Amino acid sequence: MDGNGRWAQLRGLPRQEGHRQGAKAVLVAVESALILGVKDLTLFAFSTENWNRPPEEVSFLMDMLSRHLRLQRKRVMDLGVRYRVLGKVEPLSEKLKKALLEVENASCGNSRITVRLALNYGGRREITDAAKEMLRSSLKPEEVNENSFSQFLYHPDLCDIDLLIRTGGEFRISNFLLWQCAYAELYFTPVLWPDFSYDDFNAAVKDYAQRKRRFGRV
Ligand code: IPE
Ligand code: MG
Repeated sequence: MDGNGRWAQLRGLPRQEGHRQGAKAVLVAVESALILGVKDLTLFAFSTENWNRPPEEVSFLMDMLSRHLRLQRKRVMDLGVRYRVLGKVEPLSEKLKKALLEVENASCGNSRITVRLALNYGGRREITDAAKEMLRSSLKPEEVNENSFSQFLYHPDLCDIDLLIRTGGEFRISNFLLWQCAYAELYFTPVLWPDFSYDDFNAAVKDYAQRKRRFGRV
């Protein structure tokens, strides 16, 4: 979800305003995903690298996220969304942890769509954390394979990614779901995240539907 800062800058507004609009775009994306029949949506909200931003911006993002989770709670329940956090929550603010726990618990019986909020998430961190867990387990080296290893990832039920959409005009993956994106179709759009609409999501899905996915075969 890239481009909040530039969205604000283009309008002569503080970066915070871009993040505010970006948070609104989250609900737009969830509603669009429901219409488009997407069953599992992971949103990259805060990376392990985002801690390197100015502390005021980091604490603004944490506060805003917790406020939005509270505000959107009823809508989330009405829509049948199951919210889950993907990443290491310990270093997040107490307020945000509380809001996340509340929405996760309240929505755990919902099944129309699973929305995973990647927070303090990094693909390399996830893989090294999985390696640590595996070493602590009783798994023997000869039992290690892609399937058994993937059981130690943060969400073992998160399947291979079909479509990765990056907004904001950059052409990179930025440490997102490295394991799960091995065969993802990549879609890059210059649209800045706060402007990302149903039409933009629909265009990405249409493009995806044209791709020939061969998974290494001919
Ligand atoms: C949102 O966009 C990403 C978050 C970490 C919330 P940016 O804040 O990276 O926006 P740009 O790249 O400066 O435009
Ligand atoms: Mg950015």
